[in-house]
Amino acid sequence: MTGDGTRAVHAGLPEPVPGRPFLPNPAFGAPYHLDPVAGPRLGVDGYGRTDNATWRALETAIGALEDGECVTFASGMAAISAVLLSVLRPGDTVVVPADGYYKTRAFASSHLTERGVTVLEVPTAGPYPALDTVRLLLVETPANPGLDVCDIAELAAQVHAGGGLVAVDNTTATPLGQRPLDLGADFSVASGTKALTGHSDILLGYVCTRDPERAAALTAWRGATGAVVGPFEAWLAHRSIGTLDLRLARQSANAAAVAEVLAAHPAVLSVRWPGRREDPAYQVASRQMRRIPGVVTFTLADRGAAERFLEAAELVFAATSFGGLHTSADRRAQWGDATPEGLIRFSCGVEDTDDLVADVHRALDAIKD
Ligand SMILES: Cc1ncc(COP(=O)(O)O)c(C=O)c1O
Repeated sequence: MTGDGTRAVHAGLPEPVPGRPFLPNPAFGAPYHLDPVAGPRLGVDGYGRTDNATWRALETAIGALEDGECVTFASGMAAISAVLLSVLRPGDTVVVPADGYYKTRAFASSHLTERGVTVLEVPTAGPYPALDTVRLLLVETPANPGLDVCDIAELAAQVHAGGGLVAVDNTTATPLGQRPLDLGADFSVASGTKALTGHSDILLGYVCTRDPERAAALTAWRGATGAVVGPFEAWLAHRSIGTLDLRLARQSANAAAVAEVLAAHPAVLSVRWPGRREDPAYQVASRQMRRIPGVVTFTLADRGAAERFLEAAELVFAATSFGGLHTSADRRAQWGDATPEGLIRFSCGVEDTDDLVADVHRALDAIKD
């Protein structure tokens, strides 16, 4: 296999054709021309809710990185809900992360519970209940925002022993950071809104699987619900994936430096970054991940301290996403996450490490002023 940078740059590109661009332009079309006599035909694009060449190119690219068949969706939540609703039936049990993205939990506890599905919330680091009666285990590793990590292969073996399925939310890791399908997961599902595309300008979701029937079921689900990504967003996403390796490398290096600054500062009560040897997730993360992402989570004394930090930092945008080019930070309790009031999810961008470290230092020192 070629290196990550090479794979990211070439993923999903067609064979070179003289006079054509490297990445084909977005295919805009609601209806496409039909053959007046033969009408709709398999393999010929007919309508934009089910057929789009720009999606197909993007799906080839993401599928190459995840090593599975990819189905794109309008957003991460569209992708996650597609897996949950297309797999689960009344009477089934699903396990979702108690400490993962709060909207996934909210979706499960409302829409799945009212459909007769039993929803168990389990912390990413465990302990897990017996998994042999579970229809679907959805894990998020590393979990957002706490950054705990679980052993995908071990959990998948337990779920598969009972005939259940495993989905891994790969948003934070990205396919260059972790390959859930290689580790035994049945689905790798993610928000491509974050580090995968990394420019803070599009919403995207996807699901990858190695089972053609499940891929076909997800494609049918997307066509029926209309949870499609627009061609321009799909094209931007594909264009952005070319720099994924470079962006992740800088983000990860920045996170390593920022985590050390945070760990050494008296204003910081605790810091989580699975790449630090002292981190509780370090052992499992180093075993199963190919690289550690640029998100660091830390806790300050209280809400006031977090707000003063966010105000004082000049290079850090207050924003509620992560994985982008620009360093951003979010006090998670303001969104209803069950986290301490002073907890900040800090997403390192691709700024120069020295500049970012100096800015974080300054902002931490400003907390006590
Ligand atoms: C881990 C995780 N999964 C899924 C989502 C949902 O993604 P989207 O906002 O693209 O719907 C998010 C959003 O923050 C997330 O952090």
